[in-house]
Amino acid sequence: MRIWCAAAATGQEPYSLAMLLAEKKHRWLNVGAEVVATDLSQTALARAKSGLFTQFEVQRGLSAQRLVQFFTQQDGEWHIAPALQQMVQFEPHNLLHNPARLGRFDMIFCRNVLIYFDLETKQRILDYLAQQLPKGGALVLGASETLVGVTDKFIADPSLPMVFRLKSPN
Ligand SMILES: C[S@@+](CC[C@H](N)C(=O)[O-])C[C@H]1O[C@@H](n2cnc3c(N)ncnc32)[C@H](O)[C@@H]1O
Repeated sequence: MRIWCAAAATGQEPYSLAMLLAEKKHRWLNVGAEVVATDLSQTALARAKSGLFTQFEVQRGLSAQRLVQFFTQQDGEWHIAPALQQMVQFEPHNLLHNPARLGRFDMIFCRNVLIYFDLETKQRILDYLAQQLPKGGALVLGASETLVGVTDKFIADPSLPMVFRLKSPN
C-alpha cells in the first residue's frame, strides 16, 4: 500500500499516517506500507526529516497517549520514534511538475495547498495526481476544499468526508 502526502510541510501529516499504520499493522502487514512525503519547501522538508517537534506543535491535536507511545523528549523538543521515521520517505517535489517518477499510489493526501492556485493550475495538478492513482484510488483534500467546478475526474466518497475516488484512470 503506497500513500503520498503531496504537501507534507513540516511532517505532521505523514507522521500521523505512520502512527495510524503502526496502530493498524495487522491490516497491511501482508502487503507492506510506504508513505512518500513531498513538499516544495526544502526548509519544511529538512524540519520534517529531523522528526523533531516543539511542545507547541505536539499540543495541537496529538493525544497524550500517542505522544507517550511514539515520541521521546530531547533537549526541550519531541522526537518521533525512529521506527515511524523509517516508514516515511521525504523528497522535494513541485506539484506543478509531472510526478511520474514517484510511482503509483493507492491514496494521495493533497490537503490545504490547492487553495493557493488558480483554476487552470488546480486542474493541471489534479490531472497529475489522477495519473498516479488506480481506478477507485483515494484523493484526500482539506476540510474546506472542494472539487466542484474544478474537475469531474473524481467522485466524493459518500461514507468518508474529504475523500474523492478516481472514476477512471487517465
Ligand atoms: C498550508 S501547508 C499544508 C500542509 C498540510 N498538508 C496540512 O494540511 O496541514 C501548504 C504546503 O504546501 C506547500 N506548497 C506550496 N506550493 C507548492 C508546490 N507548488 N508544490 C509542492 N508543495 C507546495 C508549502 O510549502 C506548504 O508546506
